[in-house]
Amino acid sequence: MDTFRIGLIGAGSIGARHIKAIDEVAHIELVAIADPSPAASSLAAARGIPVFVDADSMLSGADIEAVIIATPTERHHADVMTALKHRKTVLVEKPITATMAEADEVTRYAAAQGCKVLVGHQRRYYPCARTAREIIRSGRIGSLMAVSGQWTTRKDDEYYAPEWRRDIKAGPILTNLIHEIDILRYICGDITSVSAEITHHDQQFAKEDAVAISLKFANQAVGSFLLSDRTPTPWTWEMALGENVKFPKTGMNAIRFLGTRGALEFPNLVLWRHSEENGNWHHKIRPEVIETPFIDAYIAQCEHLCAVARGLEEPIIDALNGSRSLDATLAAARAAGDGTRITLSQGGDQQDGLS
Ligand SMILES: NC(=O)c1ccc[n+]([C@@H]2O[C@H](COP(=O)([O-])OP(=O)(O)OC[C@H]3O[C@@H](n4cnc5c(N)ncnc54)[C@H](O)[C@@H]3O)[C@@H](O)[C@H]2O)c1
Repeated sequence: MDTFRIGLIGAGSIGARHIKAIDEVAHIELVAIADPSPAASSLAAARGIPVFVDADSMLSGADIEAVIIATPTERHHADVMTALKHRKTVLVEKPITATMAEADEVTRYAAAQGCKVLVGHQRRYYPCARTAREIIRSGRIGSLMAVSGQWTTRKDDEYYAPEWRRDIKAGPILTNLIHEIDILRYICGDITSVSAEITHHDQQFAKEDAVAISLKFANQAVGSFLLSDRTPTPWTWEMALGENVKFPKTGMNAIRFLGTRGALEFPNLVLWRHSEENGNWHHKIRPEVIETPFIDAYIAQCEHLCAVARGLEEPIIDALNGSRSLDATLAAARAAGDGTRITLSQGGDQQDGLS
């Protein structure tokens, strides 16, 4: 296979994670970096590859098949539009853009240019996520009735030392929820409405200390999700799976899917069912552990980017799909802010709905 040539736009902390993944795949190569920082210049010099001050100069000056965009969120729109202008296949870090208006423009321009955009929701690549989706879709737990999830932890005090981290924009809804929303959408289908209750009674900053979110899915299932950055618990995706060495693994599951014939714990899959055909609360309910391999999701994502660029695979999450995760997340923030229930239009065409 010919070497697949990637350009990286934004070589900061998550950019470095992408480089690590690229380095581990034999036929994929990082050929250029666009990032104006001195650290990026040193990194490029150490690797013997060119560095450019921005996306446009890199794409005008280097032979590249696809780009990974890992600039600050506020820059995603401009950088994706530049890459599409150069007709490149794009992997943009989450969230797709900062606003829905920008995301819609990206979706339209990608279609007009005939280019594919992938959004960096890496959780979708874990075998446990794919298996959970298959279990729910195949009806192994019956008809999906409800979902219950948590992302509850205590961030370190230093995290909130900078003033901007105390603002709504840095709170757990806008920082952390989008990964939860996206994985729920991947497994359960589209979300059609969102409401939320919020509290600030610990730190008393503008950002929320805890939020309880209610969800309705296009398939009629209901969901509830608790999010807090002030509560030490073992229940987050990262701790459940051991995805990141910075957050020690607990192995404790953070999400439960409830169907009419059983339930599924996630992400360490445990299927709970009665052995009787129509078992109910009078019968014993038993767990079945379903093992799935633990992989490097960034490597899987990088290989998928190559396959999408070469027309071998369709994006696991394209611009429209990534926009819907952004839409539901922004809706949760609005609902939390003003106490309303927000209906989303995305249930309409059911791109990620359950059949
Ligand atoms: N998927 C995940 O789990 C995950 C995790 C962390 C961050 N992210 C996302 O990745 C993005 C980057 O986050 P980060 O923590 O790596 O930020 P960062 O600040 O560490 O890195 C951003 C980099 O972009 C560079 N940059 C700024 N302006 C630029 C421009 N005009 N052209 C090229 N480069 C430019 C900066 O110099 C910096 O090196 C954010 O959108 C964030 O939401 C995703």
